[in-house]
Amino acid sequence: MASIFDMTELNNGVRMPVFGLGTSGNKDQTVCNETIKAAVDAGYRLIDTAQMYENEEQVGKAIHQLELSDKNLFITSKLDNTNHGYEAASKAIDDSLEKLGLEYIDLYLIHWPVVKGREGSWQEDNIETWRALEDAYDAGKVKAIGVSNFMVKHLENLISNCRIKPMVNQIRLHPGVLQEEIVVFCEKENITVEAWSPLSPLKQMSEDEKVKAMMEKYRKTIAQLLLRFSLQHNFIPLTKSSKAERVVENADVFDFEISKEDMDYLNRLKFDDLEAPDVDEER
Ligand SMILES: NC(=O)c1ccc[n+]([C@@H]2O[C@H](COP(=O)([O-])OP(=O)(O)OC[C@H]3O[C@@H](n4cnc5c(N)ncnc54)[C@H](OP(=O)(O)O)[C@@H]3O)[C@@H](O)[C@H]2O)c1
Repeated sequence: MASIFDMTELNNGVRMPVFGLGTSGNKDQTVCNETIKAAVDAGYRLIDTAQMYENEEQVGKAIHQLELSDKNLFITSKLDNTNHGYEAASKAIDDSLEKLGLEYIDLYLIHWPVVKGREGSWQEDNIETWRALEDAYDAGKVKAIGVSNFMVKHLENLISNCRIKPMVNQIRLHPGVLQEEIVVFCEKENITVEAWSPLSPLKQMSEDEKVKAMMEKYRKTIAQLLLRFSLQHNFIPLTKSSKAERVVENADVFDFEISKEDMDYLNRLKFDDLEAPDVDEER
């Protein structure tokens, strides 16, 4: 990864930026405008929102108020868990388009594979919901479709029973949470992997002497080491801040390479208080 403007090709041929801005928690319009402006100025082109974050409208307004329509932005949103099922998902996609004020959304994801109260019927539930995403894709309302927090069994269900293979899986990934089984499966199936919460171990790693030495060696902050780590794994990191200066700091990760030895060290880190979500339980 040489530049923040690098792109990767999804399995449908759509090109997607390799580095993204998360927006969860940023509902305030001023914060949205400031962070999105800082991000686009720093070269971010991918912006990740979701119905669950209740900020699609603010993200859409920021794009329009900042007049970013000529910046080739790549906008992702995600279906809320309350909107599973063909009819509800179809309507939800239209709602997202309206809130964002866009003619199409670059990438639309099913946010979570299991719905509370319908745990026993996740297979049928995801097939019906996915059909709505497929139809929106055929209609040109979304340019790519994918999933989030799907494990191997959830992806196998879609791949075996649906017309269109998901293009992306967005999952939690960072040192201590490497979810190898699903990552290897996605690689095999040519499903692009995005990393959410890539900065989770910031606090834990700040107490690690070897990490402190890496900060000196590369002249980078822990946040920058974590984002570079994600890029070197071929994940697309989505990082969020409510502060413009941190948004800029986080993008400054394309001028160094973490050595194999240091990657091995980071790959071995484990933290008792950080783990992958149990998708059957948390939603
Ligand atoms: N699909 C899913 O289920 C799912 C789940 C979680 C997240 N996501 C997506 O992934 C995105 C990223 O996850 P995340 O929001 O957990 O983001 P993150 O980038 O891993 O961490 C964000 C946290 O780190 C702080 N931070 C950011 N930059 C920093 C820096 N340079 N130095 C020190 N602290 C820094 C932020 O605080 P300040 O804001 O105060 O700077 C915030 O508390 C989300 O915004 C969302 O778009 C998806």
